[in-house]
Formats: sequence, structure tokens, C-alpha cells
Amino acid sequence: MTDSLTLARPDDWHLHLRDGAALRAVVADSARRFARAIVMPNLTPPVRSVDEARAYRQRIVDALPAGARFEPLMTLYLTEATTPADVLAAKASGIVHAVKYYPAGATTNSQSGVTDLSRCDAVFATMQDVGLPLLLHGEVTDPSVDVFDREAVFIERHGRALVERFPGLRIVMEHLTTRDGVDFVLAARDGVAATLTPQHLLMNRNAIFAGGLRPHAFCLPVLKREAHRAALVAAATSGNPRFFLGTDSAPHPRHAKESDCGCAGIYSAHAAIELYAEVFDAAGALTGLEAFASFHGADFYGLPRNTDTITLVREPVPVPDELAFGDARLVPMRAGGTVAWRLVASA
Ligand code: NCD
Ligand code: ZN
Ligand code: ZN
Repeated sequence: MTDSLTLARPDDWHLHLRDGAALRAVVADSARRFARAIVMPNLTPPVRSVDEARAYRQRIVDALPAGARFEPLMTLYLTEATTPADVLAAKASGIVHAVKYYPAGATTNSQSGVTDLSRCDAVFATMQDVGLPLLLHGEVTDPSVDVFDREAVFIERHGRALVERFPGLRIVMEHLTTRDGVDFVLAARDGVAATLTPQHLLMNRNAIFAGGLRPHAFCLPVLKREAHRAALVAAATSGNPRFFLGTDSAPHPRHAKESDCGCAGIYSAHAAIELYAEVFDAAGALTGLEAFASFHGADFYGLPRNTDTITLVREPVPVPDELAFGDARLVPMRAGGTVAWRLVASA
């Protein structure tokens, strides 16, 4: 049994860092583990321009602990007012690495999202031309579609057409949750990839109802049944470079999740790479963790692989019941339990 694992420092290709006191509370957890992160733009108001991305990037850098080395890779939030000129400016900026699509109303802070994808054709064409990836929250919001089917229906109604209509557009299916999604990515042309979260790899939808209603297991896309989880694990551990690490760590204050209308999002940054190590270990695929966590995403984004390393040792680490989160409290993934790996060193 492998009890110690050293790997090239990983990156997180889907991360919510929030802003203000919340940002200051969480950014160190990511910076300790990851060299870089694709930072989601769903603030209020959202990050829509290069100027807003540059200002947000500076707030992130200012919130880092002294001595931390962590590179925020910024994204723009796609709205129906986004223009090809915004895309050109994003590409030229050197700090914006992707554009994020949220269907209006699908998830946290998605009010400014897109109601009709066809309104974005000129923007997608420009992204294709300059090589700026499109990141998809791939769910439909049609209220007549069952919440557990929203990813599969998105693929049928929009995903396939988008991939074919813009054959050079680089596309990431973010936080993939279904076997349908895995099959779609596997069968798609080059340039289509997906991120996988620790919660969708470790839990199925029973976790939302374990002994009672569990708001801290609620995220979007919602957890799916076991067969889907198994398909995601198979994809993650297959070695296929189309699948890479993206935590979707999405902190919300405790009171906002434990509420009549609780927010979607699971905080995992406090133990992110450790949780992925559990997934790969359980699948007998620990040696594949490095490529999934440290190589495939960098290669997709055309960025250099990290050359420094981190080390994990097999050792149970308790997870606190809650963490400080500005004026509020934050309930982390696995709260009150243990994670099976400890991050010991960085070199
Ligand atoms: C995310 C958030 O809270 O910002 N929530 C979530 O459940 N994943 C938004 C998102 O990624 O859809
Ligand atoms: Zn999302
Ligand atoms: Zn997210």
C-alpha cells in the first residue's frame, strides 16, 4: 500500500473565491494546495470586463497570506451584452483565461446569465478565433425538466450543437455529474473537456437525504445516483486527458445553507487534493492522480505544468465542524469527520 505520495503541485480549474471577508477567509486553503486556479466570476455584480477581472485579481492577491505563491487565472462572466471586443480585450489582457456561461437562473448569482445561447454566436466565433475557452455550467433551467436530468437535457438541446457549430471552440463541461456527460465528452471532437469535483466523485444523491435533509450536501448540478458517480470515477481515473480537477469549492455562510431556501455549493478547499486522493486510492489508481490533478488541465489551457511538488501521507485528519468565514461560519465538506490523507510538505 502506498502511504506517501509526491506529485507535481496541482491546479484547481474551477474555484469560487468570493470577495471581501469571505475571500480572505478561504483563499489560503486553496493557495496551500494549488499553484493556480481558474476563478469563477459569479460575484454580485459579476466580473464582466477585463477591468473588473483585473481589480478582482488584485483583491485576491492582496488577500493571500504572506509568502504564498498562487496565481489566480481570471474568467469573464458571459452575459447577453458581452461583445466580441470584450473577448479580444480578454485575450489581449493575459490575465483572463476563459469565459464562463451560466444559464440565467441556474445557480448562485446567475441572474445576469444567458437566456438564449444563440444570442452569443458572435462572441463564440471570436473566442474560437483567438483561442479563449468557453466554460459551461451545462444545465437547462426549463422548470418542466426534472432537476436530476438538467445536465443530460442541456447536452441534447445545446451541448452537441455548440460543439459542432463552433468546431474550433475549446469547451469545458464544468462540474460534470452524469454518465451522459462522460459519454458526451468521450465522443466529442478534440478540444472538449470536463472538470470533476470531489463531491460528485465521492457522494451520490443519497447523501442529500442521509437520516434527514442535509443542506451541506446540496450543490449544483445536484448529486446524482450511484451509477453516475461510478462513471465519473471511471473517467477521472482513466488517464484520459479530457478529464481534470476542478473542485467547484463554493463557500456559503452556514445560515444561508441552513435556510428555507438554502444556497447551492459545497466548500472543499480545506481538503481538496486529499479528497481526490481518497477517490483515486479507492479506485486503485493513486498513480493516476498526478496527471488528473497536475497535468491535464494545464495542457488543456496551454499553460506550463508546475515543476514544484506536494506530498500527501496516508493519515486520518479530523475536519472541524465549522470554519471561520468573515462574520459568519462555514461548514466544510466532511465536517466533523476525517479525511484519509494529510498534506505534509511543499517543495
Ligand atoms: C456555485 C456557487 O455557489 O457559486 N454553486 C454550486 O452549487 N456549484 C455555482 C456553480 O458552480 O454553479
Ligand atoms: Zn456551476
Ligand atoms: Zn462552480
